[in-house]
Amino acid sequence: MRSDLPAAVPLATPATEPVLSRDDMRFVAALVYEHAGIVIREHKEAMARGRLARRVKALGMTSLAEYCAFLRTPAAAGEIPELINAVTTNHTAFFRERHHFDHLREAVLPRLVQAHAGRKARIRIWSSACSSGEEAYSIAAVSREAIGPRSDLDFRILATDIDTDILDRAAAGRYPADLIERLPADMRPLLKIDPASGRSEVRIAEELRRLIAFKRLNLIESWPMKGPFDVIFCRNVFIYFDAPTKSAILDRFVALLQVGGFLYLGHSESLPQPHPQLRLIGRTIYERIP
Ligand SMILES: C[S@@+](CC[C@H](N)C(=O)[O-])C[C@H]1O[C@@H](n2cnc3c(N)ncnc32)[C@H](O)[C@@H]1O
Repeated sequence: MRSDLPAAVPLATPATEPVLSRDDMRFVAALVYEHAGIVIREHKEAMARGRLARRVKALGMTSLAEYCAFLRTPAAAGEIPELINAVTTNHTAFFRERHHFDHLREAVLPRLVQAHAGRKARIRIWSSACSSGEEAYSIAAVSREAIGPRSDLDFRILATDIDTDILDRAAAGRYPADLIERLPADMRPLLKIDPASGRSEVRIAEELRRLIAFKRLNLIESWPMKGPFDVIFCRNVFIYFDAPTKSAILDRFVALLQVGGFLYLGHSESLPQPHPQLRLIGRTIYERIP
């Protein structure tokens, strides 16, 4: 990565910004790529430095150089998950890119429920980079509405992310009340909420929380699930990966997707190249074909 750059040139100049040599930046970027597949692009380096600085503070260290020296020792193996937690971008929102939830609610779930009428049937949806849980709870909200009180369906959502800190927040299901107030009026009632601590926080109701299993999963490592899934959400994480990483993950999604199932990507994402078993049927909506 960026082998044209001379080594050991201070990157950050303003006095308040932590200094990180090019060598150290390269070293950290290589570690993050190796363990998470995330490419720290040059224009994002300042942001990465700021995030690492928080980690330096949390460890009681005095400089990024000290942190990098520590990362270079064998004792640092246990620090890698914390490093990854520090550099991930977790921005998300309830019903973000609403067209996917409209498609799920109007085109996918009624068909699945109909297809499984009268027998105990399995429906599986995977939120594969779920961040703080808003995506998974939005899936639960529209699914609960489409499925209703039926108890003859085995319906589950798997919600995974590499970042253990953000997964703890997701599983708690607690959010600032004003986040919910700002939701579209027709979606708000679907997202069943209970008051939490005081008026400023709400909690997603148990009837939605129990539909979801939150687990740590690194998309570039092996996956324990056998599938099949009816729908996979993989939104706004491919932007951090390079083309070979995206292609490899995509092949594994396809292998786990039911024929006739759907893959949703983020708004600025597309397939690295056309896939013979995925057909684009709407805005960032792909159908798994035989
Ligand atoms: C920008 S958020 C997207 C959240 C949600 N899917 C959405 O679209 O609103 C990207 C998430 O991908 C996760 N992530 C990054 N690399 C990952 C990896 N190798 N495996 C699993 N999750 C990863 C990050 O921790 C982060 O929570």
